[in-house]
Amino acid sequence: MVQKVNQGITSAGSFTFPGSSLTVNRMGYGAMQLAGRDGNKLVWGPPRDVDGAIAVLREVIASGVNHIDTSDFYGPHVTNQIIKKALFPYPDDLVIVTKVGARRGEDGSWIPAFSREELTGSVHDNLRNLGLDALDFVNLRSAFDIHKPAEGSIEAPLTVLAELQQKGLIRHIGLSNVTAAQIAEGRRIVPIVGVQNQYNLAHRADDALVADLARDGIAYVPFFPLGGFNPLQSETLSEVASRLDATPMQVALAWLLHRSPNILVIPGTSSLSHLRENLKAASLELSADVLADLDAIRLEGAWAPTPRH
Ligand SMILES: NC(=O)c1ccc[n+]([C@@H]2O[C@H](COP(=O)([O-])OP(=O)(O)OC[C@H]3O[C@@H](n4cnc5c(N)ncnc54)[C@H](OP(=O)(O)O)[C@@H]3O)[C@@H](O)[C@H]2O)c1
Repeated sequence: MVQKVNQGITSAGSFTFPGSSLTVNRMGYGAMQLAGRDGNKLVWGPPRDVDGAIAVLREVIASGVNHIDTSDFYGPHVTNQIIKKALFPYPDDLVIVTKVGARRGEDGSWIPAFSREELTGSVHDNLRNLGLDALDFVNLRSAFDIHKPAEGSIEAPLTVLAELQQKGLIRHIGLSNVTAAQIAEGRRIVPIVGVQNQYNLAHRADDALVADLARDGIAYVPFFPLGGFNPLQSETLSEVASRLDATPMQVALAWLLHRSPNILVIPGTSSLSHLRENLKAASLELSADVLADLDAIRLEGAWAPTPRH
């Protein structure tokens, strides 16, 4: 059992998913970066340093984080297996959020997987690799366009997840990579307690959606909060960070936490030092002036991603 030493991450507050007793700290952790890489195949195979990955996960828990985002298609299987190795038996308050709706090709590609058999198989893969009898929270990841939300009915796959929920294999259901219309369709089928879409300082297509979900008490969990494989770069962000004696990544996370009370952050890292840096964002205060400067980033046109890999 990992000893908990809360290092201030609760300063960002907590969030209770609607219609549930499931409460998490708003500062969470995304586990995707723990899988390895094989040439051009990203999030593939074991990490170079398995012990290092285990150390990161144990420090996540020791720091008071109780929301870990994962999927069995990270690796595939690898990330969940490392989570189990590092943290099982899990702390009572830990909420592991996983996602289904894709599988990996041998070339590392991400292939939609929405048939009844594929979805049911994914849920059982997650259960087995995490060592659980039931999954707290499963996101259905839509993939009409694998890279961004695109319209199309999610009724059939979501109905399969609702049936698995009725069987007791899933406690709560969320949606990922979805449009507002798909969320509305989903809510007619089953209670949706959270949405996970791409969103960060420079990628703000969901501004209106964040507000709509906040009104209904539904969590919004931005993926790529730091820009994903191309970490955020902006002159304004760097300038604000140096003014606050913080790092750009800390400011980017603090901006998300200030943006709306239903936003839960899940920054991903395979590095202990980056983890420590990121968690400190939970207690970073941003004044109204600073928020106004940061809000202007998407307008400045200065953001140019530089591939790191
Ligand atoms: N629903 C979906 O479709 C979907 C898609 C993508 C991701 N996700 C989830 O969202 C989580 C977060 O996304 P993400 O991990 O892809 O992207 P992210 O959190 O935006 O950024 C992670 C990248 O930033 C680097 N990084 C982290 N902290 C840093 C720091 N303090 N300074 C400099 N670089 C830093 C990481 O490298 P190091 O490892 O070297 O720190 C990694 O390359 C994932 O872990 C996953 O659980 C969901």
